[in-house]
Amino acid sequence: MKRTKICDIFDPALIGSEVCVKGWVRTRRGNKHVGFVALNDGSTIKNIQIVFDMNKFTEDQLRPVTTGSSLCVTGKLVESMGKGQTCEVQAETLEIYGTADPEKYPLQKKGHTLEFLREIAHLRPRTNTFGAVLRVRSTLAYAIHKFFNEKGFFYLNTPLITASDCEGAGAMFQVTTLPLNNLPKTDEGAVDYSQDFFGKMTALTVSGQLEGELGATALGAIYTFGPTFRAENSNTPRHLAEFWMIEPEMAFYDINDNMDLAEEFIKYCIRYALDHCRDDIEFLQQMYDKELIARLEGVINEDFVRLSYSEGIKILEASGKKFQFPVYWGVDLASEHERYLVEEHFKRPVILTDYPSEIKAFYMKQNDDGKTVRAMDVLFPQIGEIIGGSEREADYDKLKKRIEELHIPMKDMWWYLDTRRFGTVPHSGFGLGFERLVLFVTGMSNIRDVIAFPRFPGNAEF
Ligand code: 4AD
Ligand code: MG
Repeated sequence: MKRTKICDIFDPALIGSEVCVKGWVRTRRGNKHVGFVALNDGSTIKNIQIVFDMNKFTEDQLRPVTTGSSLCVTGKLVESMGKGQTCEVQAETLEIYGTADPEKYPLQKKGHTLEFLREIAHLRPRTNTFGAVLRVRSTLAYAIHKFFNEKGFFYLNTPLITASDCEGAGAMFQVTTLPLNNLPKTDEGAVDYSQDFFGKMTALTVSGQLEGELGATALGAIYTFGPTFRAENSNTPRHLAEFWMIEPEMAFYDINDNMDLAEEFIKYCIRYALDHCRDDIEFLQQMYDKELIARLEGVINEDFVRLSYSEGIKILEASGKKFQFPVYWGVDLASEHERYLVEEHFKRPVILTDYPSEIKAFYMKQNDDGKTVRAMDVLFPQIGEIIGGSEREADYDKLKKRIEELHIPMKDMWWYLDTRRFGTVPHSGFGLGFERLVLFVTGMSNIRDVIAFPRFPGNAEF
């Protein structure tokens, strides 16, 4: 018999028909007359109740049906008298695919802490929480592709192995095939990368933006969506060493067009998740964050505040609030500052623009004041920075001068500068941290809980 997924079984038209369901046992209870099993197959947060009439099944048959075991059940789908479910399966046949020793299976019933579940990340997708988070994540990924596809953007795949450091922060993971305990050296005693696999020093990318700009200045508008890597030693609930980033890049967009796109994009994704993951989001709201849906609706329905960094600093200075990190013009804002502006002052998302050039990357368009660049960071409640972007410096001479000032090796940048040498155009783009979006939409509080297998300092298990 053909299997019905549990997400499809609550269809009233199926009542009375013979069905086949497969999944993992969440709980089993009962007495000597009847057994009840809650079965879940991952397609939905909902379980289907299986009812075993003990006149048809023996105790021995049901003994291996314990939490975590995997089953195939056929039977009749009937309306349920039980509270909280519309239908249930009256079991006719039972096949056990795999048992799960109750003495050893770590996911017994409820109540495990998120910290404990992180230690068993290989099994946590089988919990309600991680099932919900991973379904929301997958739906958001689809929404992102759909949004850009509908707008006529092209999906560009940029390299993961690179010889350039886009953000200039130096927090890169090296990629090498050189023998680490016997490195070839140059006459000067430095590592001889000419003997390495690529003939030069390479690393995992921190951003696909530079190559994205090559795409945008050819195809008009592109987006990337791929993994990025940062070796920054930040043990925070908002940083990962391996995270996914979406980076649209558009020719002929100035910073205002860029802000409009960022706002429309992020609202579209949240709306899509609310419309397509209602059960999961309601579950997460009930379990972790009572304000979740109200906050998501709030963000969709309100215009984001747009304000310059300098104005933001004035508000922070005038707040009278005691911050852990002091506030002054020129400081790189900490999450506590960003969240003050968003959560306490404006009570809605804020796009901060025109940051001091010293705290931003080399490629941003320089303002006439000689001090600031046309950067834009989108700041969100609970999260702080969710998007970072800018209008790009399109002027060859200005960009080259900035690269020299920062001592970025020209041999790594010649191809990037060529976009400004040949048919340069005004253009802009931004990067959305995918996990930060998933964090916001799920209401989870630690970024390690919104990616199946997180990578962070000291952890590359699973
Ligand atoms: O602000 P960032 O560093 O900007 C860039 O990489 C630009 N090249 C983007 C562009 O203009 N195309 O990173 C962009 C976003 C941040 O706003 C944040 O959401 C996320 O990426 N992010 C991280 N997410 C998780 N873990 C980390 N370590 C992150 N670092 C940045
Ligand atoms: Mg940033």
